[in-house]
Amino acid sequence: MNKKVTLKRLQKMKGKEKIVMITAYDALFTSLFDGSVDIILVGDSLNMSFAGKEDTLSVTMEQMIYHTQAVCTKAEHSFVLFDMPFGTYTNKKMALENATRVYQDTKANAVKLEGGKEKAKIVKYLTKNAISVFGHIGLKPQSVRAEGGYSIKGRDEKEKRAIIEDAIALEKAGAVAIIIEGVKPDVAKAVTQSVKIPTIGIGASVDCDGQVLVWSDAFGFFDEFMPKFVKSYLNGGEQIKDAIKDYASEVKSGSFPSEEYTY
Ligand code: KIV
Repeated sequence: MNKKVTLKRLQKMKGKEKIVMITAYDALFTSLFDGSVDIILVGDSLNMSFAGKEDTLSVTMEQMIYHTQAVCTKAEHSFVLFDMPFGTYTNKKMALENATRVYQDTKANAVKLEGGKEKAKIVKYLTKNAISVFGHIGLKPQSVRAEGGYSIKGRDEKEKRAIIEDAIALEKAGAVAIIIEGVKPDVAKAVTQSVKIPTIGIGASVDCDGQVLVWSDAFGFFDEFMPKFVKSYLNGGEQIKDAIKDYASEVKSGSFPSEEYTY
C-alpha cells in the first residue's frame, strides 16, 4: 500500500478486495495507522472518545478541522475522510459552505454525512460542486437524542426496505461510498448487492465491502461500553495503566532517571 489511496481505487475494490477503515484524530496515531489501512476516518466519535462527551452532537466544525489538519500531516498513503458534524449540513447552502471549508482548510479527500433519502438532495448538490460524499445509513449516531438511544436498525421487512432505498437514493445522488452501521447481516448483504458503490460496515456483519472501527475501541482504550461488534485487537488501556504505574513508582523511588538516562 505505497501510493496514496484514491477514490478510483476504493471504487475498484468493491467485490474484489475488502476496504479497511479506522478512525484517527491526531498525527501520532495516523502515523502508526497510515499505509496499513485504506481509509482514515476523522470521525465525530472523537467528541466521545477524545473529548469525553456523552454523544457526538456537540462537536464543532472548528474542532473537526483542527483534528483533520493533524491527521492529514501524517496520512501519506491512506485516504482521509472528514465526518460532517451534527447541524452543519441541514440544507444545501449550509452543507456546501461547510464542505467547501473542509476542502479549503484541510487535505481531506471526502466528507461523510449521516442520512439516506432525506439527504439525497444535499448529497447531489455537494457532488455537483466537486465534493466527494460518503453516506452513513442504518444506525445514525447523530440521531441519538431524537430517537432516545442507539438501536439496531432493519429489524423488520419495512425497515430493511427503507435502508435499501436509502442506499439506492444516495448512490443516485452521487455518493461515492456508504457506511452502514448497526444492521443485521441480511440487511447489509441486501444493501451491498443493491448498489455499485462500496459499502463499509460497522456492526453490520462481514457482508459489506469493507469494515470500520473506532480506534480506541479496537485497541482496548475505551472500555466503559463495549458493543457486541467491537473486537479488541490490543489491551491498550491495561498496558498504558501498567506503564504509567511503573513510571510513577520509579520516579517516586528515585530509580528513574538512572545514569543510563542522564547526560
Ligand atoms: O464518528 C465515527 O467514528 C463514525 C464511525 C462510527 C463510522 O462515524
